[in-house]
Amino acid sequence: MIAPIGPRVGVNAAFFRELKEDDPDLLSLVSRLERAASASRPGAERLLRAADLADRMRRKLASRFELEETFGYFERPRDVSAAVCDAAAVLRAEHCALYDEICELADALAYLAWSAASENINCDAEFFAMADFCNSLRRHEEEEDALIAVAWENHVPRLAEDVTPVAGPAFAAR
Ligand SMILES: [Fe+2]
Repeated sequence: MIAPIGPRVGVNAAFFRELKEDDPDLLSLVSRLERAASASRPGAERLLRAADLADRMRRKLASRFELEETFGYFERPRDVSAAVCDAAAVLRAEHCALYDEICELADALAYLAWSAASENINCDAEFFAMADFCNSLRRHEEEEDALIAVAWENHVPRLAEDVTPVAGPAFAAR
């Protein structure tokens, strides 16, 4: 794993735990997207379903990533191992690529779904891309969960000044 160049990044494990417990719908939405991408339904019905779910995922990730980057990740942590900082920097940096990917897919599916000839359009490329996106997002969530567990064990912030929220330079600054 090669950490992006920039300030050291820490993890507010307490905030992340609360965020993920309060909003467990993300992985369920991933599963529904995977089913939509692999379902053997008639073309138009499958497209409408996938386009709707992709749009929901786009909106879900916009709010989730903004919260994570504003309150979950923070810069210049104290007493945090280099391994945790490197993993946090990599995971935070992945948000932009994941969000760009779901926006592109949502736009492509919406266009295809509402085109007059959607019954006969071959959407295999979009559905393969959707399956890849779901795998990437699932892995991102798993690695983030593992990082939160390590950060929780190693460094639970106890003082308000221990965590200074700094909006991530990548996603939250858009
Ligand atoms: Fe994340």
